[in-house]
Amino acid sequence: MKALTQDSVVGQTAVDVHNHLAEVLADLSKGALTAADVALTPAPAHTGADLSFRCFELARSWKKAPAQIAQEIAQTLNDRTDNMSDPSPAAIWTPAGPYVNITLDHRVLAPRILDAVRNDAESYGHNEQLADEVVMMEYVSPNTNKPLHLGHMRNAILGRAVANLIAAQGAKVIRTDIINDRGIHIAKSMLAFQRWADGATPESSGVKGDHFVGGLYVRYDKELRQEKAAWLTKEGIDLESLNEKEKKQVGERFNEASEISAATRDLLKRWEAGDEEVRALWRKMNGWVYDGFNATYDRLGIHFDQHYYESEIYEGGRDVILGAVEKGIFKRAENGAVIAPLSEHFKKLQDKAVLRADGTSLYITQDINLATIKFEEHGLTRSLYCIGSEQDYYMKQLFATLKLLGFEWADGLHHLSYGMVYLPEGKMKSREGTVVDADNLMDTLRPLATEKILEYDPELSGDPLTQRAEAIGLAALVFMLLSVGRESDVQFDPRKSVEFEGKTGPYLQYAHARIASILRKAEGWEAPEQLTLSEDIEWRILFQMLLFPNVVADAAESHDPSILTSFLYELTRDYSRYNHDHHVLNAEEPIRSSRLALLVGLKTVLANGLRLLAIEPLEEM
Ligand code: ARG
Repeated sequence: MKALTQDSVVGQTAVDVHNHLAEVLADLSKGALTAADVALTPAPAHTGADLSFRCFELARSWKKAPAQIAQEIAQTLNDRTDNMSDPSPAAIWTPAGPYVNITLDHRVLAPRILDAVRNDAESYGHNEQLADEVVMMEYVSPNTNKPLHLGHMRNAILGRAVANLIAAQGAKVIRTDIINDRGIHIAKSMLAFQRWADGATPESSGVKGDHFVGGLYVRYDKELRQEKAAWLTKEGIDLESLNEKEKKQVGERFNEASEISAATRDLLKRWEAGDEEVRALWRKMNGWVYDGFNATYDRLGIHFDQHYYESEIYEGGRDVILGAVEKGIFKRAENGAVIAPLSEHFKKLQDKAVLRADGTSLYITQDINLATIKFEEHGLTRSLYCIGSEQDYYMKQLFATLKLLGFEWADGLHHLSYGMVYLPEGKMKSREGTVVDADNLMDTLRPLATEKILEYDPELSGDPLTQRAEAIGLAALVFMLLSVGRESDVQFDPRKSVEFEGKTGPYLQYAHARIASILRKAEGWEAPEQLTLSEDIEWRILFQMLLFPNVVADAAESHDPSILTSFLYELTRDYSRYNHDHHVLNAEEPIRSSRLALLVGLKTVLANGLRLLAIEPLEEM
């Protein structure tokens, strides 16, 4: 867990502890140590303390053993606390080996924590640490030849959550994508439309636009395979009898001979030459795809502040690259292609071709240009790329190339890499090689959520049922995809994801709805002046509420929402236990109103946490 620093913890509490410790350290070290040396972390559970301060780092400058330092600090702090009339920072300091453990005075701090949550309300957990930053989050970035799939969903959900977390640190965040809207793959669906669509359109066939075009792309593949089979027969070639190398050569020969491939290349050439007929078809078909994408984004609640289109930027970047050749930064290969000599400057990276011999663009040519445009247009301090881990090596090469080009901003580039998503065997077609489609998956989740809802609330029907099922289905998906560390693969089990128990989104929504229901029933109570909360579990909940802003900051800094999902799950589990073991509505006063006040604060923290992940906190479930 990230250290608690003065500005990452809302509420005076930790700030007091922090300041007090900083003061003592400065005195004891005669000014050698300052507030910057004070890093507090939550204490391990077995200590029974709340916070912990480690003294290892001080040993060198102080020239004493860490345990001895811990002794001295604790002694001094306790002496001072005893002599203070003001009970803040309300703490007992205990040396424990090389650590000083800090036990906070729960009575003093509990009302302060609830005050902080109440005052900040919806912005509790947010701060202004990154107020000077302008951050771009590039995410999803689809190609326009097929619908969005499960991998895009993880991308969208992860990119959005990280963007939210960073925005909650006060940064200006620009959400964007690069739409790869041109090239040979697009020409394929266009040819398929011309030849085999029989004039059908998404409207005439009632098929969503992106699925319609995706279907054409599949059709193209089928036709090409048929053409190849016929050609192989004609040539008397038996693929089975060939080794890999021979197969590849045959593939190349077929590519030369294929009428379909030649027609596709011709279509691309005409597109590049600006042929109006081809461009019009391209605009029409991409339009269908965008309509489809937008429907999927709307359903998932994804939005962008800006779009970049490959067709508009792919020709740029050449000047910068040629300039670098002149300066001797890049080289010419024998065949005339331009090479970034990465291996000379970076360990483990191979040289990378950045421009073809005939001057045309490669994938990276476009990315060099795009990275520059992003920084120049927006004065970015950081540029994030949410892209799957299969492009890890490519991203390293891209960033290294930009460093080599001498761009000062290149240090602000980050690859938000993430692992694969798998579905459980048998339940869905993933293992058979079929890509799981995003729309279909959301369609599968809704009835699963409906089944669960009816177990708990058999009376619900009509629109309210549909709406709730949609919110729960999406929460299930979002939470499960975020609850695994970013770089790890996820097993997405649709059935398990909609459970109301266990580490799921609906479990958290359920706790929130449960608290809402208790508060609705409570009516006619007032928050007490003095809190009567003496159960250990109550303090545990309060303490986690105190840590919440810190956890959010930590998740933002690590670009990893799973830090927040784990925290929210633990907090919800504590609440479930509390709810099971202790009465609220039937408790005696003043306990009753104290517990209600605790629940009001907890509800805010849960809701704020869920919103950062883009999960809807439900009032009823
Ligand atoms: N469209 C690409 C794909 O589907 C991803 C683009 C990622 N962004 C980038 N700047 N290269 O693989």
